[in-house]
Formats: sequence, structure tokens, C-alpha cells
Amino acid sequence: MKYLSRVGYLLLLLIVLGMGGKHSTSPMWTLQEYTTLQSLTLANLPTASDSSNRFAQHPQALELGKQLFFDPRFSRNGSVSCATCHQPDKTFSDGKPLAIGLSGGKRNTPSLLGVAHNDWFFWDGRKDSLWSQALAPLENPAEHGLTRLEIVRLLLEDPRYQQQYHALLPNAPHLDFLQHLPIAASPLGNLEQLKAWKSIPSAQRVQIDEIFANTGKFIAAYVSSLSLAPNRLDVLNTSQPPLTSNEIAGAKLFIGKAQCILCHSGALLSNQTFQNIGTGKLGTDSGRAAVLDTIRTDPFNCQGTHSDADPHSCTELQFLTRNRHAVVGAFKVPSLRNTARTAPYFHDGRMATLEHVVDYYTQASQAVANANDLPRIQLNDTEKQQLIAFLKML
Ligand code: HEC
Ligand code: HEC
Repeated sequence: MKYLSRVGYLLLLLIVLGMGGKHSTSPMWTLQEYTTLQSLTLANLPTASDSSNRFAQHPQALELGKQLFFDPRFSRNGSVSCATCHQPDKTFSDGKPLAIGLSGGKRNTPSLLGVAHNDWFFWDGRKDSLWSQALAPLENPAEHGLTRLEIVRLLLEDPRYQQQYHALLPNAPHLDFLQHLPIAASPLGNLEQLKAWKSIPSAQRVQIDEIFANTGKFIAAYVSSLSLAPNRLDVLNTSQPPLTSNEIAGAKLFIGKAQCILCHSGALLSNQTFQNIGTGKLGTDSGRAAVLDTIRTDPFNCQGTHSDADPHSCTELQFLTRNRHAVVGAFKVPSLRNTARTAPYFHDGRMATLEHVVDYYTQASQAVANANDLPRIQLNDTEKQQLIAFLKML
């Protein structure tokens, strides 16, 4: 056994260093580089799970959620659906600098492929689950612009949805429960909608919230099914075409001199932290710092009454920092998978191309008043091209 494993190790070394191959003039990777690159592959991605959503793996919930995702009736003007901004042929993004729903938004639309693997949702991570996230755009005046009660009505008054809803939740309240309620009402609405909400007896408000939360859970079941396709790094050393020499050089820079891997690590190329890279704006968008309280008081968070999780299992929430100062101007480190197809870049879509992004990194890290979390790096033009070639391969 001992002998065999030693032979195996030697063989691995030969493959890694490229000596076993045809082009054996120069070794391709050091063992350390190879190990680091392996840590960026999908093989290291655990299956996504969300104990706060009991419908997360439910096929019928996924089916219903998919219909809701594409249904523009769930909007004030009948023409905005989740898919308006998260378009299937654009990696579930929209190609615009800033999202446009009922009106213009302030943030860039992220891709939804593989999104279920994130710890936090939105650029500032103000939501701790996919289902809770899905509730936000529905009530956002700039996106779908509906009130909570209108959403519940749409779901229960549509015969097809109603039937699916009751198949999933046989004991759910029936339509007649809506009869004596106002048309529109929400705790997050305008003054009139808020008054209407307060006029509803609290037991019924809880029921409305429950149906609303379930709507988010169905949509989340669909969104979490949007998975990542393997790239050429994921299938390194098999029959797939290998990396080009530019991509190899870029990979070495990414995990070496350019230090991108400090934040863009793991199978998603994101360490799931919030970092200040100098893109936030004090006063207008201070990123993570602005939402720490919102997360704790969110009635739809992991520890809230509508969550299916054991409150003790909500570790992300339990260990949420209280140090606002440390996260001023910090945004979530985004996944770099499919990054060539998700332009424009950064939370506000300010960068049109990957070339601009890489230029930004070399400049921002050199800035005299360097008040951000970036390491100092220097790259010449060839190196920038190589790094970009690697990014495009992801
Ligand atoms: C008007 C365009 C628009 C619509 C409509 C919209 N989104 Fe989004 N979505 C965005 C933008 C912009 C962000 C980032 C917002 C932020 O960070 O503040 C986002 C973020 C997300 C995220 C978090 C991604 C991440 O990586 O953190 C998910 C998941 C998501 N949307 C799903 C949905 C679902 C489900 C719907 C429908 C219920 C929906 N979106 C409707 C534009 C939109
Ligand atoms: C200190 C942590 C950190 C380091 C180091 C870092 N990044 Fe980032 N990266 C981020 C954060 C945070 C964002 C989001 C910033 C924002 O939206 O304002 C980001 C965004 C990006 C984006 C845009 C993705 C999108 O979908 O908008 C790309 C591309 C990128 N980084 C590539 C790189 C490369 C290449 C390097 C190495 C030269 C690197 N990053 C180094 C934290 C980091």
C-alpha cells in the first residue's frame, strides 16, 4: 500500500509539473499552484441547502415558483417580472449598468446562476435567505411595486396558482378570507397602504405574511435550481481542451502576484465576505454598513416566525458583526463565474468591461490615500491581458 501510494504521488507530480505530457519543455504548474487552482473548481462546491425554506427541494414548489418568476402580472403596471431583469439568455442578468423595473434602480443586476450557494443576498447582503430576498423586489416601488396584500390576492385569486398552492399546503386559508379586506395593504407601503395594513386584524396580518413568505419560498425553490455549468478549469486534466498559454499565465497571476484570490477564492471565486475596494460612496451608498440593523430586525430573517429553521442554526445571523465602522463602503465579493457574460461590473455597474475592472485594481491599490482593503499590486500590459484571459475562461 505504502509503495503504491508513493508511486501514485510521483505520478501526480509528473502530471502536475507537465513532465508526463507531450509539451514537457517547461512545467505547467507547481504542486502548490495546482492545489490552489483545484480549490477554485466546482468539485469543492457543497450542495446548497436552506433549512429556513421547507420547500427548497420540493419539485411542485419549484414548478409554481418558476411560473411566478416569469409572471408580469405580479407588478404595478402588469409588465415587470423577475425575468425582466434576470433574463435566462443573459445568465439571469440584464446587461445594463443599473436595473430598470417600474423606474430606474441604483444597483447593477447580478446573475442568478449558482446564487443559492451564497451566504448573503444583494450587494450589501441585506437578506440572509433566497426566499426572504425574493420578497423584496415584489414590494419595491422601483421594481414590481405591489403591496403585500395584492401579491397574496394575485396568488389566491388565480385558479391555477390557487390549486397549486392548496396542493402544497392543504390547510391553507381559502379565498373567502380575503373578502372583507382592503385591496392593497402593506407595512412597507405609502401612508394609505400602511393605514390599510393597520386596519387589518393582527391574526389576519400574520396569515397574509405567511402566504407572502411562502410565495418567496416557492420562487426561491426555482431560483436555487439555476446551476453553474463547468468551465475548462473544472475539467482540467480530463479530455476537455486545456487552458491556453495566456489563460495559464493569467491563472498564475490571479492566485499569485495579482492577489485576486485574497477575496475571490473557492469554487464561486468569492470568499463570501464584504470588502471595501473603494467603490462605495459615503452618504449615498455605504454598502454593508447601512444594512446591519435592517438584517437583525427583518421579520423574514432566518430567526423570524416565518422561517422553517431552528433559530440556533442561524449562525450567519448570530455572528453578524456589530462593527459598522469596519464595513463602511464594503460590498459583497461577487462570484467571478461567468464574469465575461455579466458586464457591466461592480454594484453600480460603473465599469463597462473587464479591462476597466483590471485597470481599476491596479490604480485603486496605488492610490495615495489608500483607505480600502485592497493589496498593492503592479501589473504590466501583458500581465493585464493574461489576467483578463483567465477571467474570461471562468
Ligand atoms: C428591476 C429589476 C429587477 C427585478 C424586477 C428583480 N430583480 Fe433581482 N436583482 C436586481 C438587482 C438590481 C439586484 C441587486 C440589488 C441590490 O444589491 O441592492 C438583484 C438581486 C437579486 C438577487 C441576489 C443576488 C445576489 O447575488 O446577491 C436575487 C436572488 C434576485 N435578485 C432574485 C430576484 C427575484 C426572485 C425577483 C422576482 C421576485 C427579482 N430578483 C426581481 C434587479 C431586479
Ligand atoms: C479585497 C478584496 C478583493 C480583492 C483583493 C479583489 N477583489 Fe474583485 N471584487 C471585490 C469586491 C468587494 C467587488 C465588488 C465591488 C463593488 O461592487 O463595488 C469585486 C468585484 C470584482 C469584479 C466585478 C464582478 C461583477 O460581477 O461586477 C471583478 C471582475 C473582479 N472583482 C475581479 C478581480 C480581480 C481580477 C482581482 C485581482 C486583480 C480582484 N478582483 C481582487 C473584492 C476584491
